[in-house]
Amino acid sequence: MKQLSKSVYYTGTLNPNMRVFDVIMRTEYGTSYNSYIIKGASQTALIETSHASFWDTFKEDIDSVLNGRGIDFLILNHTEPDHSGCVARLLQEYPNLTIVCSQPAALYLKNITNIENLKIQIVRDGDTLCLGDKTLRFINAPFLHWPDSMFTWLEEDNFLFSCDFLGCHFCEPEVFDTRIHYPEKYQDALKYYYDCIFGPFPTFVQKGLEKIKDLPIRMICPSHGPILTSREYIANAMWAYKTWSASKANERKLIPLFYCTAYGNTAKLAEAIRKGILRTLPNAEVNAYNLIEHTQDELAALLNSSDAFLIGALTINRDAVPPIWQLLSHVDAINIAKRPAALFGSYGWSGEGFANTAERLKGLKCKLFDEQFKVNFVPSEADLAAAEQFGAEFAKSL
Ligand code: FEO
Repeated sequence: MKQLSKSVYYTGTLNPNMRVFDVIMRTEYGTSYNSYIIKGASQTALIETSHASFWDTFKEDIDSVLNGRGIDFLILNHTEPDHSGCVARLLQEYPNLTIVCSQPAALYLKNITNIENLKIQIVRDGDTLCLGDKTLRFINAPFLHWPDSMFTWLEEDNFLFSCDFLGCHFCEPEVFDTRIHYPEKYQDALKYYYDCIFGPFPTFVQKGLEKIKDLPIRMICPSHGPILTSREYIANAMWAYKTWSASKANERKLIPLFYCTAYGNTAKLAEAIRKGILRTLPNAEVNAYNLIEHTQDELAALLNSSDAFLIGALTINRDAVPPIWQLLSHVDAINIAKRPAALFGSYGWSGEGFANTAERLKGLKCKLFDEQFKVNFVPSEADLAAAEQFGAEFAKSL
């Protein structure tokens, strides 16, 4: 427990040992599940709960702050279970509390808690809740990063409870930005968290920033990572989100070719197709990447920021190989929908890897080039010339 102001307390739980979050995120700096208590003159609000596995420490912490006082309102800015995991247990202890949340959150909570007749107060953008001498104002923030997300603004203290927004998986025992021991690692965690959580929603990030930019923010209290109290850290986080979410059109068309190759045949095709693309689009940035020679992060970043891309599929034992699946499972599926894509490659027996990769690209809703360029075993000179022509035709279709 830490006190943020006369009436506001931090009751978050620290999880420094976590190394994977939500299956897909590395968390090399651990995380914290931040929650806060506001003790108003007449009523008390708890903002967020914690991950279910931390119920005991969470309860101990809130009890020490409440000191016998009840909880009137549970504000849920977002219902992902890292924040709502203790709701059902909390309701056993405080059956009379009212949950305050957005309309989508109310729907999700029914199936998250499996409790009928939850006492819920749905709030909309701009609604307020008075705790006596403290006023909470709710700011709708959809897709930051779930449809249910909202921020809560504490008017008298100028504190913004920003949910996942402007937070990160970074566990510092001291909680406050002023006590961050490794600022470079914090910045690294802030960027990685942004990329994974908010990267798919840049337009919504801009809208969210617009809503809070004129607030006289004294403290940003996110749901993960350090509480931002210094002008420097607050400005840094806001600037970073603004920069990262700004729309970025590539100066030159970016058309990467990703391939796997067992005996160099698909690599030869990649090079020929690359030449063909450049014949049509000489100013494009066209490079071929052997998947086993690059990191997943590098490849995913290239694919996500591309204008179009090609996959050189390889078949082993009737399927595409793991690096292809890995690449296509690390993409921003929201923003690569409609992205032009094409398939090519050499195969030995029957080449099922093409059809399976094509299905995956269709599942991602990419705009798949009608023609696939396939060669059985070793490409001849004529095959390489045809591959170059294939590249030129694909480029013309863009
Ligand atoms: Fe920290 Fe989206 O939950």
